[in-house]
Amino acid sequence: MSTNAKDKLIVALDVDSAARALDLFAALRDVAGMFKIGSQLFTATGPDIVRQIVAKGGRVFLDLKFHDIPKTVAAAGIAATRLGVSIFNVHASGGAEMLKRTADAVAELADREGLARPKVIAVTLLTSLDPASLKQLGINEEPRAAVARLARLAADCGLDGVVASPREIGVIRQTISEREFLIVTPGIRSSHDPSDDQKRTLTAAGAITAGTDYLVVGRPILNAEDPVAAARKVVAEIDGSLRSLEPK
Ligand code: C5P
Repeated sequence: MSTNAKDKLIVALDVDSAARALDLFAALRDVAGMFKIGSQLFTATGPDIVRQIVAKGGRVFLDLKFHDIPKTVAAAGIAATRLGVSIFNVHASGGAEMLKRTADAVAELADREGLARPKVIAVTLLTSLDPASLKQLGINEEPRAAVARLARLAADCGLDGVVASPREIGVIRQTISEREFLIVTPGIRSSHDPSDDQKRTLTAAGAITAGTDYLVVGRPILNAEDPVAAARKVVAEIDGSLRSLEPK
């Protein structure tokens, strides 16, 4: 099994206690490359859970989807950098100045203080928004067109990538030619997993073939009888897909 495949799996620690999150981290740290801490766990337990996982050598994607005035989001980005996260995200709809100031503030701090620079990625459109809800927000484009436009904006403002539903990977790769532009994809399900509330899912292999860099998987691993075995299965699927893409 290549470490490359393991590094592509991000497990979403969508639990509400530090003890449960740390148990999952301990069980899964050798199987998955990164752990996502989102609003639920962060709001329940505070930033200390990030510090603890980072102190134990874990890599963290801080999924707090910052969206505020440029100064505030840049300051939150600085705080995330000091916590030692590997990736954090902001809403692309916060606008160009917010995106640029955040990317610049993080790069400058990392350089000045010799810290690792986290990747800053953008949420384009929440995948829960359908064309009717977009219309209510005054967005009359097709979701794919809006995603492409916001991904382009993020790239132009110096961000490292985007969070995207599996169905959007193709349009993003077509719009942004730089291969180093990261795509992080939730909504991963195998054919026998319940889809839960995810409407547009793809298998791990399908998402890798479509060109994603990282997969975020929560409930199919957290709710499995054996989370380690479930995570290993996802990594095996990623590995198979990476091998099939290698030049023969
Ligand atoms: O449990 P599941 O595998 O659906 O978890 C997916 C994770 O990715 C959750 O933490 C969810 O908040 C997050 N996410 C998502 N869809 C997005 C953005 C983030 O499911 N568009």
